[in-house]
Amino acid sequence: MEAVKLLVVGAGGRGWCYSTYAMQYPDKAKVVGVAEPREFYRNRMAVTHKIPKENVFRSWEEAARLPRFADAALICTQDSMHTAPAMAFAHKKYHILLEKPMAPTEPECRRIVETVKANKIILGVGHVLRYTRAVQNVKHLLAAGAIGEIVSVQDLERVGYWHQAHSFVRGNWRNEKESSFMLLSKSCHYLDLISYYMDAPCVQVSSFGNLKHFRKQNKPKGAAARCLDCPRAVESQCPYSAKRFYLEKIKQGHLGWPVNVLDPDVNAKTITRALRNGPYGRCVYACDNDVVDHQVVNMEFANGATAVHTMTAFTPDGDIGPSLRIFGTRGALCLTGMQIQVFDFLTDTSTIYNAAHFIADTVKGTAGGHGGGDGGLMTQFVEAVHCGDQKKLLTGPYETLESHRIVFAAERSRRTGRVVRM
Ligand SMILES: NC(=O)c1ccc[n+]([C@@H]2O[C@H](COP(=O)([O-])OP(=O)(O)OC[C@H]3O[C@@H](n4cnc5c(N)ncnc54)[C@H](O)[C@@H]3O)[C@@H](O)[C@H]2O)c1
Repeated sequence: MEAVKLLVVGAGGRGWCYSTYAMQYPDKAKVVGVAEPREFYRNRMAVTHKIPKENVFRSWEEAARLPRFADAALICTQDSMHTAPAMAFAHKKYHILLEKPMAPTEPECRRIVETVKANKIILGVGHVLRYTRAVQNVKHLLAAGAIGEIVSVQDLERVGYWHQAHSFVRGNWRNEKESSFMLLSKSCHYLDLISYYMDAPCVQVSSFGNLKHFRKQNKPKGAAARCLDCPRAVESQCPYSAKRFYLEKIKQGHLGWPVNVLDPDVNAKTITRALRNGPYGRCVYACDNDVVDHQVVNMEFANGATAVHTMTAFTPDGDIGPSLRIFGTRGALCLTGMQIQVFDFLTDTSTIYNAAHFIADTVKGTAGGHGGGDGGLMTQFVEAVHCGDQKKLLTGPYETLESHRIVFAAERSRRTGRVVRM
């Protein structure tokens, strides 16, 4: 197979992550272009992939002015910058891998899907969790009838106290106007999975949630605006101290995400400088954040089944019991980390499966971030482009639009205090 040619649009965290697939599998994919305004990230991509100078751009607009020179564009810009490049490259007949969320509004998501359809190109969306072994195993068990027909789903999204502080209080997704609302930027993965397991249209939703904790009125007495300036007596008692979190990570030799978001050249000096001057050194009670830190969503599906999703910031970074329970007419399934337990009502017994159990060859190359989902999506996307077959991906444009619609409806419910019929 000739390597699929890729143009990376936005060479930050996600653009870089997907591009590593081409380093691992040079016979399958090759990065032949990059569009990125930040010099370090642009050069890293250009040098690593030996991209010819004429294909190195400072913005996606420059690349989109040229005739098509790659098979596919990986659109990895920030949430509010997905629609314009997605439309422009779709019109140029690039196949598209678009990071989630597709776009910050429902009409924009629709326009992207319509443009993709009109131009007969393949669209992959960054719902990477679908491509993990754990999710594929759950889906496999459900399809095999392990618990009969689904009646109820209970899903817990453990954001993690430090991940919330990093991304949704101090970082890129803290402020709705600058990015998008929390349910869209974070929880769209989980509502997409619920919709995937249910395999039926959602008919109505309700939702509640708010920004309870990371607000100015919860700032401890005497706390400074930056953790580096905070009195020791206050800083040492704060679970969200940026000083402790990032500098401890370096001491532990952890130089990757999320520390490298502060500065790509990670060492105590550069990170201390970033804490002194940049957004990640701010007190969590003195930021310009407005996205929620907890939210629940209730859903009813056309087959009569119901689901409840809880997103909360206030969890450890790691396993604290089941994250997903699915209750069926003949049994119940429980996913905890990488372990799936299936209880069978007929035999009154449980079986435990490891996540790597039976679909090892269904989604290939599932190495890397998000439990292997990043590698899984890239593998399937590259194969889809190579074969010209959208079905190689685990989700198509309309299915993705449908799961985004649940997110928009839930957020509408949270804001209006009403049940939203879809
Ligand atoms: N699938 C997932 O699980 C997952 C995880 C994290 C983030 N994301 C999504 O991926 C997207 C990117 O996130 P990230 O963490 O990589 O962000 P990032 O800020 O690290 O990367 C975005 C890049 O886009 C670049 N950019 C800005 N303007 C540009 C332009 N005109 N042309 C080209 N590039 C431009 C920025 O300089 C930056 O390097 C976001 O939409 C985010 O929500 C998805």
